[in-house]
Amino acid sequence: MESKKARLDRFISIKTGINRRDVRQLLAQKRVFINGQPATTNQVIDQFTQIECDGKCLQNNKPIYIMMNKPVGVISATKDNQHKTVIDLLQPQYADLHIAGRLDLNSSGLLLLTNHGEWSRNLTSPNKKVNKVYKVTLEKPLTKEYAEVFAKGIFFPYENITTLPAQLEIISEHVAEVTLKEGRYHQIKRMFGRFRNPVLKLHRVSIGALALDESLKPGESRELTAQEVQSLNH
Ligand code: URA
Repeated sequence: MESKKARLDRFISIKTGINRRDVRQLLAQKRVFINGQPATTNQVIDQFTQIECDGKCLQNNKPIYIMMNKPVGVISATKDNQHKTVIDLLQPQYADLHIAGRLDLNSSGLLLLTNHGEWSRNLTSPNKKVNKVYKVTLEKPLTKEYAEVFAKGIFFPYENITTLPAQLEIISEHVAEVTLKEGRYHQIKRMFGRFRNPVLKLHRVSIGALALDESLKPGESRELTAQEVQSLNH
C-alpha cells in the first residue's frame, strides 16, 4: 500500500478476499484490531497502521529512513543494467526503499532513502522549498557576479522555467556552497553552465536541518535517529 490513506474495510476485503459486507460484520464484532485497539467502521489507515484480524497479522510495516554518503560512480536508481545502484550498497532488507531526491552519477554526498512515500514527497516537492546545500568545485575561478545571477534565478528554456532564487557563497577561488530550494535535472551543472564553468565535483552536505554524518565513508549508510526524522518534518 502507498502511504496515502485508505479505508480499513476496503483494505481488509482486498487482503483477505472477504466481501465488504462480511468485513463490516467482522468490524462490528470487534474482531479487527488497529495498533492493538478494536477497530471502528470507516476507519482510515495508512501503510504503517498495524492491522490484525482474528489474531492474524494483515499488515505490520515499520517506516525506514536511511542516510547514505553516496559515492561518485554509483547511480541513484533502484535498478540499472550498467551501473551499480545505491540499493546495491544497502543490506538486502532495504531492497524495497526508494530515493528521496536523487544525485547524479558523478555527484556525491547526502542521499536519503525510505519506504515512506509521503515523507519523501514532502522533502522533494518544489512547493515545500526545503533547502539542499551543495559544495561545488569548479574548473574556473568564481566571481561575485555568480551570486547575483543565482539569486535572480536562471531561465531554463527547455522546461520554460526560471529557477527559484538560489544562494551562492564563495568559499575559495574554485569552491562555492550553493543552496537550492528545488531539484531540477542537472540543476547546479546547468546553472554554472550559464558561466561556461564546468563543475568538477558536486557534494551534497545537507537537506533541510539534516547534515551528512561525517563519520560515514563514501558508500556507507545508517538509519536516521527519531530526532533526525522529526527535524525533517518541519
Ligand atoms: N545538481 C546537479 O547538477 N547534480 C546533482 O546531482 C544535484 C544537483
